[in-house]
Amino acid sequence: TRDSDFAPRLIAWHRGHGRHDLPWQNTRDPYRIWLSEIMLQQTQVDTVIPYYARFLARFPDLARLAAAPVDDVLALWSGLGYYARARNLHQAAQAVMTRHDGEFPRRAAQIAELPGIGRSTAAAIAAFAFGERGAILDGNVKRVLCRVFGIAGFPGERAVEQRLWALAEDLLPQSEIGTYIQAQMDLGATLCTRARPACGRCPMAEICVALREERVGELPAARPK
Ligand code: ADE
Repeated sequence: TRDSDFAPRLIAWHRGHGRHDLPWQNTRDPYRIWLSEIMLQQTQVDTVIPYYARFLARFPDLARLAAAPVDDVLALWSGLGYYARARNLHQAAQAVMTRHDGEFPRRAAQIAELPGIGRSTAAAIAAFAFGERGAILDGNVKRVLCRVFGIAGFPGERAVEQRLWALAEDLLPQSEIGTYIQAQMDLGATLCTRARPACGRCPMAEICVALREERVGELPAARPK
């Protein structure tokens, strides 16, 4: 599969088939984008929507979040699970107030230094909020890349993960980075799923190595025993 075919296919698919009206789309406010990315890390879109609305009603901006008692933050998180996310969110808001004068950092490298934000999430926030061109590599994206490009190793292994990061960087389009990142997330979440991939509707079907070689069920590889 040629790298140059990947991004244009994905972007075209997202225009026609992606969701464009979720509450955290159509904003460039890094606080709102950050909050949505943290909530969406381990939680489905439909569950996140009411939590996101309540959270923003109580904490409309980063300063308000930073000033709140952590128990108030945890109370609004109640039911979402993975409460370390809420604690980190609160700590990161305070870090932005003290270390960055209340201005959310604009570069992925700085964003990744905040509590609870890894390399991939930082790149997603920087892309959505500021248009920074950078790769993401979460579980969904790993699965898509392993299948489309026929990468056989276990993606949790260091060497394989490094190869996937390098590939993800090579695939980045020159423009429309936010659309591209969102399209990657949506493809992995909706069509290129782990258990029941919808290859018949997939924009990558013509270029997917795993589909051509009938290895969709084998990729990405499981953790070696
Ligand atoms: N998971 C993490 N970020 C997401 C996003 N922006 N859209 C859908 N699922 C996601």
